[in-house]
Amino acid sequence: MISFGNMKKVLIKNIKGLVQYGENLPTIRKGKEMKELPILENAYLAIEGGIIVAYGEMKDWGGITDWRNLEVIDAEGKFVLPAFCDSHTHTVFAKSREEEFVDRINGLSYEEIALRGGGILNSARRLQEMSEDELFEHAMIRIERLMSYGTGALEIKSGYGLTIEAELKMLRVIKRLKAEAPITIKATFLGAHAFPPEFKENHQGYIDQIIQGMLPVIAEEGLADYIDVFCERNYFSVEEMEQILQVGINIGLKPKVHVNQFSAMGGVKKAVKLGALSVDHMEELIDEDIEALKNGVTMPTILPSCSHFLSIPFGDARRLMDNGLPVALASDFNPGSTPSGNLSFVWSLACVKMKMTPEEALNALTINAAYAMDLSETHGTISLGKKTPVLITKEIPNLAYIPYSFGDMNIERMIG
Ligand code: NIG
Ligand code: FE
Repeated sequence: MISFGNMKKVLIKNIKGLVQYGENLPTIRKGKEMKELPILENAYLAIEGGIIVAYGEMKDWGGITDWRNLEVIDAEGKFVLPAFCDSHTHTVFAKSREEEFVDRINGLSYEEIALRGGGILNSARRLQEMSEDELFEHAMIRIERLMSYGTGALEIKSGYGLTIEAELKMLRVIKRLKAEAPITIKATFLGAHAFPPEFKENHQGYIDQIIQGMLPVIAEEGLADYIDVFCERNYFSVEEMEQILQVGINIGLKPKVHVNQFSAMGGVKKAVKLGALSVDHMEELIDEDIEALKNGVTMPTILPSCSHFLSIPFGDARRLMDNGLPVALASDFNPGSTPSGNLSFVWSLACVKMKMTPEEALNALTINAAYAMDLSETHGTISLGKKTPVLITKEIPNLAYIPYSFGDMNIERMIG
């Protein structure tokens, strides 16, 4: 017998497989554990006021105490899983950048385009001219699209402002999205995404703007949860990253950083030492990174759609897992390197290009991704009391069918 109270209730019955369910599940699955994925066959799931209140096998379902205000969904032939968590996106931006895509087809590299003033600087010029309201409206439309793909929690970065005024504008847009979007959002300050052209020869001048002009306002207005730096050649050095992260940490922002996209420069070791929640990209990987990650609490996060779109190496998830480490997957949705935020496609790429099994990749998109955005308490698994949205698939033969049938839309609906 399910005893419901009087909030909006949903009962999903005849579920072919209830995926990633259970109590007292780990907040991280690592190494060989990433193959584990609990699935309850022929199940029901009850949700009230967005909170998971009951689940079990259909044969044990003893009826319902109160049928008022209840939506009943028959999920025969369908799977139910916790919504994906996308722990790394740049969902607030001004305009798409297809012209650079065509330039790359015609032979320029992503790095060459950036050195000519394209790339992040191109996006920053356009964003500086756009109003807060317009940025908000465009981002909200994108979030609705991401939700239709099955994303139930979202991290969004600043980093296309690159002036005090425009970085704060971006973060205020993200704050509004947090308040008004129907899913949980985390905000990351990425003022250190690139050096504006006027600071090309005066790095410390821009770092001073970040430290003295941006971070105090961010602290005062509560504009961010995390702090990010793009640690890369032609961007921020390890020492510059450390200087910025240290000030962020002092005002309560945990680091979540861009490292090892094109070169492994020691950023992973430094970020782990500073207690980073995640190190993201990881297309490049050296022994020193692995040793550092073994001693930390930092989630290595791989972004396979970025590798696909830029034709750069895919992160070596297998090497991380063989070393007993966890892996999270995220989209990196942004107008330059990853114009898709579709996590079913990320799931597929992880299987096809990184040789993760469907179970490993789903752990990387749920439990481990929830950890990478501090949402283990509420998201990532179907457990009593959690408020994660849940996904109902279309009728599919088995779970592996989702990454197998790449490009297909197998998510029918998100509830919660
Ligand atoms: O994560 N690598 C740095 N930042 C973004 C891309 C930014 C852009 O091209 O607009 C990324 O890939
Ligand atoms: Fe990114």
